[in-house]
Amino acid sequence: MSQRSLNILITGAGSGVGRGLAHCFTANGHRLFLTDVNPQGLAETVASLGAHSVRVSTHPADITSAAQIKTIFESLASQRIDVLINNAGLQFVAPVSGFPEERWDLLFDVMLKGAFLMTQSVLPIMRKNGFGRIVNIGSIHALIASPFKSAYVAAKHGLLGLSKVVALETGDADITMNTICPAYIRTPLVDAQIAAQAKSHGLSEKEVIDKIMLEPMPKKAFISIEEVAATAEFLMSHEARNITGQAIAIDGGWTSR
Ligand SMILES: NC(=O)c1ccc[n+]([C@@H]2O[C@H](COP(=O)([O-])OP(=O)(O)OC[C@H]3O[C@@H](n4cnc5c(N)ncnc54)[C@H](O)[C@@H]3O)[C@@H](O)[C@H]2O)c1
Repeated sequence: MSQRSLNILITGAGSGVGRGLAHCFTANGHRLFLTDVNPQGLAETVASLGAHSVRVSTHPADITSAAQIKTIFESLASQRIDVLINNAGLQFVAPVSGFPEERWDLLFDVMLKGAFLMTQSVLPIMRKNGFGRIVNIGSIHALIASPFKSAYVAAKHGLLGLSKVVALETGDADITMNTICPAYIRTPLVDAQIAAQAKSHGLSEKEVIDKIMLEPMPKKAFISIEEVAATAEFLMSHEARNITGQAIAIDGGWTSR
């Protein structure tokens, strides 16, 4: 697989998957533009990159705000952007009957509207350059459901719909949009879920991991960042130019049931 050095914009790069992708992508020689609502998290990501931090710039912003997204793109006006990774996300766990409306709105605003606004802003740049790859970090919950995660499951399913539309609208260019759908990755988001689910289900944290998180997965393992990064690298390559509008599951066999 041929891979040149690419300019990659990552949302939610101040923690977990976004930070892990920053490590993998800089190690592979790419140049990164990192954004997150949490400037402290972004600073910690940059510090953790050590010598690789020279290939990184930070652009703090809340991607629920069109005005703040405009600021990100203004600060990148002189840059080529080859790849957008729509990664920012958050979880909230509660039954539908008690799911707070403001949490529903926030999850949708970050994971679906935010991805839409970022995509809308990056597409003209990609069209001008004649190349673009948009990779959504979806979830196994873009394909199947779990109880108590109505907003997350619905927003992640929505990402697949968005990417199918973008695939149709960019068929005339070397631009693709795909969604990687991993099962659980051990990040701060998942650590918070383990605690929240333990409370909702009345279980210990170990029982949540064994009986809920890993139970439906034949391979019974957390997914590593390296697996997600390698899948993204493939989707970013020339060889993946005809893969678009797809959901790529990394789920240890979960959806084979
Ligand atoms: N951890 C997992 O098991 C797992 C599995 C599948 C998919 N995912 C997805 O991976 C992505 C990253 O999750 P994570 O586990 O690294 O979580 P995380 O909580 O560690 O990181 C999420 C990042 O998104 C940022 N963010 C939240 N709201 C934002 C906003 N309005 N604007 C900009 N940035 C914002 C946060 O500040 C944080 O740095 C999410 O989309 C999540 O759904 C995670």
